[in-house]
Amino acid sequence: VSSAPLDARHRPLRDLRISVTDRCNFRCTYCMPREVFGSNYQFMPHSALLSFEEITRIASLAVQLGVQKIRLTGGEPLLRKNIETLVAMLAALRTPDGLPIEITLTTNGTLLEKKALALKQAGLSRVSVSLDALDEPLFERMSDSQVSVDTVLSGIEEAARVGLAPVKVNMVVRKGMNDDQIVPMARRFRHTGHILRFIEFMDVGTTNGWNLDEVLTGAQILQRITDEFPLEPVAASYSGEVARRWRYTDQAGEIGLITSVSQPFCGSCTRGRLSPEGKFFLCLFASQGHDLRALMRNGASDAQMTAALAGIWQARDDHYSEQRGHNTAGREKIEMSYIGG
Ligand code: GTP
Ligand code: 5AD
Ligand code: SF4
Ligand code: SF4
Repeated sequence: VSSAPLDARHRPLRDLRISVTDRCNFRCTYCMPREVFGSNYQFMPHSALLSFEEITRIASLAVQLGVQKIRLTGGEPLLRKNIETLVAMLAALRTPDGLPIEITLTTNGTLLEKKALALKQAGLSRVSVSLDALDEPLFERMSDSQVSVDTVLSGIEEAARVGLAPVKVNMVVRKGMNDDQIVPMARRFRHTGHILRFIEFMDVGTTNGWNLDEVLTGAQILQRITDEFPLEPVAASYSGEVARRWRYTDQAGEIGLITSVSQPFCGSCTRGRLSPEGKFFLCLFASQGHDLRALMRNGASDAQMTAALAGIWQARDDHYSEQRGHNTAGREKIEMSYIGG
């Protein structure tokens, strides 16, 4: 076994983010704008998707190479039928030292109230739930859906109730769109035990019309909150943590800032991403993935697959967020709805 490879920037492979579907029941304007992802849009046929067995096989090989944490994403991962079966299969994996893997999931929350208990029972550790606004009309506009904020809030409560805690709530901040929701969101999630995280609007994909003018930086977001509720920094809970942690000085809980634009964190990026059809991507902003499905369906052995995966990782030199702006403008990038953030 070729144990724990390092990439060209000396980063190990620790996290595997697995997108299980390219579909979503929302059409967030910054992710799946309806003009592009309309009724004529061709999503992947089921036969193109990796089966649960195929996903688990790749995950188990990645675990042999150092992966300790697996996150399921989409699109919307809860749209994939019997997703709890996949969770149970992944939860059975063990590291070479015999330790269990942390299994988490990022969802828009619409189906969470219904699914939380089954997911917990299958072995899911935690969930992150996206919520960009509390204001109902604004939420409907941003998600371009009829789903109400209450549906998502009920999903969050149910997840916490069944023990998928602490729940992390992800808010993408787009200046001029939902930045007036920063303080109301902070207020709403104080004293709940959930961790609200503010995400700088990123230039992912090619369809979201990103513009630097629409980025409110983490420092600016922090200022708006501290004007209302004083905060103090908290040390990272693990090395390479994406969010910078802060806690309210009155013990009301903690928040996080994900500053991929203003303070990139590529130096400690240990994340590999698997697409729904089995392409392995080395960066959220990569233009191409490595086709593991073809290898697998052509009959590669575990040893051959592991060697391929290790070789791909060792050649990795991606650090897009650190290069942003320098010759990155015309680059082709995968869509966020395909790779799941
Ligand atoms: P936990 O700390 O375990 O909760 O995981 P996480 O913060 O990595 O998970 P989550 O999916 O909730 O990530 C939050 C958001 O951070 C994502 O949706 C992305 O917007 C952003 N993000 C996560 N990983 C990366 C990354 O590698 N690069 C960039 N640029 N952004 C990332
Ligand atoms: N910038 C930052 N975050 C984004 N997300 C989707 N698109 C973007 C973007 N352009 C977030 C979602 C969700 C997570 C998977 O990624 O809102 O919280
Ligand atoms: Fe769906 Fe999440 Fe994209 Fe919104 S951001 S369209 S919820 S995948
Ligand atoms: Fe990792 Fe790419 Fe994000 Fe940098 S931009 S943190 S290399 S996924």
